[in-house]
Amino acid sequence: MAITTLPLAEARISERVATAVRDGLASSPKRLPPWLFYDEAGSRLFEQITELPEYYLTRTERAILTSDAGAMIARAAGGTRLRITELGAGSADKTRLLLAAAVRRQGPVIYEPVDVSATALADAQERLEREIPDVLVAPQVMDYTDGLELEQPAPDERRLVLYIGSSIGNFEPEESARLLRGVRAALRPGDALLLGVDLVKSADLLLAAYDDAEGVTAAFNGNLLVRLNREFGADFDPTAFAHRAVWNATASRMEIYLMSCGPQTVQLSALDMTVEFRRNECIHTENSYKYQPGQAESMLVDAGFTPNATWNDRRGWFAVCLGRVE
Ligand code: AVI
Repeated sequence: MAITTLPLAEARISERVATAVRDGLASSPKRLPPWLFYDEAGSRLFEQITELPEYYLTRTERAILTSDAGAMIARAAGGTRLRITELGAGSADKTRLLLAAAVRRQGPVIYEPVDVSATALADAQERLEREIPDVLVAPQVMDYTDGLELEQPAPDERRLVLYIGSSIGNFEPEESARLLRGVRAALRPGDALLLGVDLVKSADLLLAAYDDAEGVTAAFNGNLLVRLNREFGADFDPTAFAHRAVWNATASRMEIYLMSCGPQTVQLSALDMTVEFRRNECIHTENSYKYQPGQAESMLVDAGFTPNATWNDRRGWFAVCLGRVE
């Protein structure tokens, strides 16, 4: 199926990028939103992160899906057919496990990946249609953080929304609550949401996962500056900023920063902006929230879902929760 781009979606997205950069670099402390990481190079670096020995998240969630995808699909479907919508184009790898389970159960499945990046969607479509011919991919270019506009499924179909990979953890608590309410508002009774969250664990494991020995996470973080140079005519020297990862136990989140190695002045000509940095001054580029067992279920309840089941790995590092609309 062709990629659907909502009218003005792309223009709105690039305006959103410019506003985020202008406001974030003018604020004190300086910050940039984590969704800026994902240009083409950033998406590739993130794929590399998911394969690092220290980055346990992807591997752990994949293990849960490998053993329990069939049960997840059965619970979500009840006695009906499922249409599967995924927020974020998803690493085909994990999504494939759920789609394959759905195909085994019902035959052909409509799969709607929703993402701001048309390129990521085209990649996901190409991969999945090649690998699982019974999956009909209907990609949608949309910023799902603004709410979801989804076509109503057939009356005999239920929709299962996937929000896996602990992507929810990159939002502030009030933003994630709004996002989940937005998903709930787009669903009908019988539909469901499958939410994957990373759980709190030892600081050593968390710090290693966000500051790997090979420096891939550092490159992923630094690529933000390369993106600003390209898209905003900026003159950041990425080698003059260091990657910093901090575990904030009070807020229950990993924090990622780009720290200026010395005093420096940066121009962003497309924004007509000059930014001064003191030595060791940081740009806060990401929070990655880690949840207590049971917390994802409470978030689902607060958004109007009824928690139906939770699956964990053996070590209790990660949780995948199914919430249903009653
Ligand atoms: C996409 N997201 C869930 C990742 C995370 O773990 O928060 C992004 C990431 N940042 C650094 N490493 C991975």
